[in-house]
Amino acid sequence: MFRRPLEFLNSLPAHGDLVEIRLGPLRAWVVCHPQLVHEMLRDTRTFDKGGPLYERLRALMGDGVVTCPHADHRRQRRLLQPAFRPSHVAGRTDAMGEEAESVCRTWRAGQRIDVAAAMMTLTTGAVSRVLFSDSLGAARTAEMRDCLAAVVRGLFVRTVVPVDALFRVPTPANRRYRDAVARLHALVDTAVAERRAGGARDDLLGTLLAAADDGEQAVTDQEVHDQLVSLLLTGSESPSLCLSSAFGLLAQHPEAERRLHAEVDEVLAGRTRPTADDLPRLVHTRAVVHETLRHSPPGWLFTRSTTRDVEFGGRRLHRGATVLYSPYLLHHRPASFPEPERFLPERWMAGRDADEPYGAMIPFSAGSRKCLGDTFAMAQTTVALATIARRWRLRRPPGPVAPVRPAVTLGPRSLPMICEPRTRELVEAEAGTGSLARRAARGSGTPASRKAG
Ligand code: HEM
Repeated sequence: MFRRPLEFLNSLPAHGDLVEIRLGPLRAWVVCHPQLVHEMLRDTRTFDKGGPLYERLRALMGDGVVTCPHADHRRQRRLLQPAFRPSHVAGRTDAMGEEAESVCRTWRAGQRIDVAAAMMTLTTGAVSRVLFSDSLGAARTAEMRDCLAAVVRGLFVRTVVPVDALFRVPTPANRRYRDAVARLHALVDTAVAERRAGGARDDLLGTLLAAADDGEQAVTDQEVHDQLVSLLLTGSESPSLCLSSAFGLLAQHPEAERRLHAEVDEVLAGRTRPTADDLPRLVHTRAVVHETLRHSPPGWLFTRSTTRDVEFGGRRLHRGATVLYSPYLLHHRPASFPEPERFLPERWMAGRDADEPYGAMIPFSAGSRKCLGDTFAMAQTTVALATIARRWRLRRPPGPVAPVRPAVTLGPRSLPMICEPRTRELVEAEAGTGSLARRAARGSGTPASRKAG
């Protein structure tokens, strides 16, 4: 599980629908059949958030909406849900496009960029707008991004090797993790204190502080902090990995890339980024996102803990049993998705997803603990993909491709790629003759603080 987790997971369905494994000293059960996974996800009272992953996350996020037990979940979800309703998300399409443009505007023809770092900049910027409007500023958003990246790197080993003593040793890696956690908490505390001093704003922090000040809703200052940390972590890392994986996969699949470029050129018709009205027409772009989420789901492994003795999958599980489910495992079952290793966006073109049996596609999970940001994430990744693909084709540099090592999430942590301009305007700008170059010469370039990658 630790050395080759994806291969290990894919080998399990051959042993049954519910398979016992060991995580260090701990016994755990992996649910391998989609129907059984849905049965578990529907019964959140019995299969509550718990097990090694959620114990680690709780140390970080407290009892925010991601980690809180069943008993407090409905109240928390109701508080946060309005900010992620489809109508709110549609209103943010422009801001999503702006974040994507500000990241790729600074790239130069032939430049080697780290796509993974650039996408983390993009998604941290987008989620921090939802939480804090623009009150963080570029420097603190960048610091936040670095902390978030360091924290998720340290989390996985703590999950699959749940032996606390190992992580108390002051090794450089343990110190880096602890420092990043401390900086993240401090950044959030500062943002809350500044807002309290500076007055109300219409964002998620504003909603949380209003609820905290209205004594009836039982929102403590600690909960305000925990919700912000929870949303920053979940809202930046997964969409960023989805985008990086998409660009990596597109570079290896020229036909899918060609169709993406053709669609983006037609739908945007000369504009630099899509509007909310364009989204329904970006059918192939969305299919690329969907197929990326199937092929390389950022959330690939989750744990639950049973709150009572229960008959499940033909076994008797005792109270406190650790149960795992893996979107990656379900997405790679040949019975659900023929040739699961192949990247085929056309699986998701009109009508074809209706064939998908048993709800085996669960990149955002299912049931009442389904991802709160699913609509936001789909819109954000589709807009970002279209905005970047309108300007740039990203190429893999020559040489071997490093295998992706899963951490607490799945996707490339570092992805060097070469920028190739797609439009005449950009080629001219690079040559110093076009309208972009003339604008840059007049001093309207992007500030250095927004450069990424
Ligand atoms: C491609 C991007 C994303 C993917 C693949 C993803 C995936 C998931 C998955 C699989 C879960 C369920 C975890 C479990 O069952 O234990 C989840 C939960 C959650 N996600 Fe996402 N997520 C994404 C983006 C986002 C964004 C952008 C936000 C918010 C800004 C967000 C907020 C949350 C929250 C709050 C939960 C906990 C929901 C609850 O328990 O009620 N996610 N996500």
